[in-house]
Amino acid sequence: IDIKTLRGASGGVVTIDPGYKNTGSCQSAITFLNGEEGILRYRGYSIEELAEKADFLEVAYLLIFGELPTAEQLEKFHADIKAEAHVDEDVKKILDGFPKSAHPMGVLSSLTSALIAFNPSSVNVDSEEDMYNAIVKVLGKFPVLTAWAHRKRMGLPLDYGDDNLGYVENFMKMMFNRPNKEYKANPIVTNALDKLLILHADHEQNCSTSTVRIVGSSHAGLYVSLSAGISALWGPLHGGANQAVLEMLEAIKLDGGDTKKYMGKAKDKADPFRLMGFGHRVYKNFDPRAKIIKVAADEVLADLGVNDPILDIAKGLEQEALSDSYFVDRKLYPNVDFYSGIIYRAMGIPVEMFTPMFALGRLPGWIAQWREMRLRKEPIGRPRQIYTGENLRSFKPVNER
Ligand code: ACO
Repeated sequence: IDIKTLRGASGGVVTIDPGYKNTGSCQSAITFLNGEEGILRYRGYSIEELAEKADFLEVAYLLIFGELPTAEQLEKFHADIKAEAHVDEDVKKILDGFPKSAHPMGVLSSLTSALIAFNPSSVNVDSEEDMYNAIVKVLGKFPVLTAWAHRKRMGLPLDYGDDNLGYVENFMKMMFNRPNKEYKANPIVTNALDKLLILHADHEQNCSTSTVRIVGSSHAGLYVSLSAGISALWGPLHGGANQAVLEMLEAIKLDGGDTKKYMGKAKDKADPFRLMGFGHRVYKNFDPRAKIIKVAADEVLADLGVNDPILDIAKGLEQEALSDSYFVDRKLYPNVDFYSGIIYRAMGIPVEMFTPMFALGRLPGWIAQWREMRLRKEPIGRPRQIYTGENLRSFKPVNER
């Protein structure tokens, strides 16, 4: 039984809605999503128009502050972020303490949480100015930490990037710059990454965003709320899906590339296997982000001249699923993560870094949602439950059990 009721704390009834499939947790003016028609808008602007005309930092400003920035506001925003694009030298010691094999999502969650220890005043967000300062700090430092998590895994010296570059270009440099080699940005790749980050920037009350809001609702502070969001994003049913997609494609390749066999497994209810990168909780028509990203993926692959059997397997699965009644009847279409993993792979980003890339894109959305929650003075998030355990029992000492 899904729906039971009991008296709620404010006099209403408590409803049970596993997975909150039909429960709104807040009112929000940030992102509009219509899953039936495949519509996604940030602050009223369509995702298609933003992906085509805006850059990631403009979209970040829009999401967080509600309006597109003027040239002057954007310049100041970028300058303030750049001024924070460094981390305390002691943070490197924490990074050093992780084994190379540590998953970068765990590293990032820990380092983001540690930011509060190095910036204790950032927990005070009583004024808009305090909030702004906490926000630009994390927007400056998070790309550095993300790139460092990657460089640590690769055994490369850490890189602080170049202040003269744009936000995304600078991140690419921090990721890919190699000692004794001049770094040259590829504009098609940078543009595709900018688009990818825009498409991931917010998605209303998904698992990680709800986590950020609920942790923040205890007034725990921005950085620890973000750290909790990073942990939530890590799971394979959420942001971890982009890594899971590539791992699945690799496994299919190793197994002889028989896509039909895996389609069969996905449809077999006795088999826990799911076709990763297909289906979405909200989009029951198509994922508008997937449409945009598919075009970007084709551009990047053509530009880089990538010829990868993994991509042929991906295309095969996509074609089969689109004409298979199991997938069609359940409205299971490729989601944004199906294609993002393919682009990341073509860019030379290792599979464990796929979900951190998602986190980098989602950062402005998390911040915007946290800020909105605080400005609206929302009460602490505290769901109720329906108790299904034992009635009152009396305690037996251990020797009598
Ligand atoms: N492969 C095979 N069958 C699937 C898949 C899939 N990927 N996704 C859903 N189904 C089936 C379910 O078995 C169920 O079938 P049934 O009605 O016969 O029991 C039906 O479709 C509905 O699925 P639910 O799990 O109830 O749908 P829900 O909305 O809870 O889950 C989710 C959505 C988690 C995204 C799911 O589709 C899934 O696991 N997909 C694969 C993981 C993935 O790609 N996640 C990324 C999501 S996008 C993001 O986070 C950015």
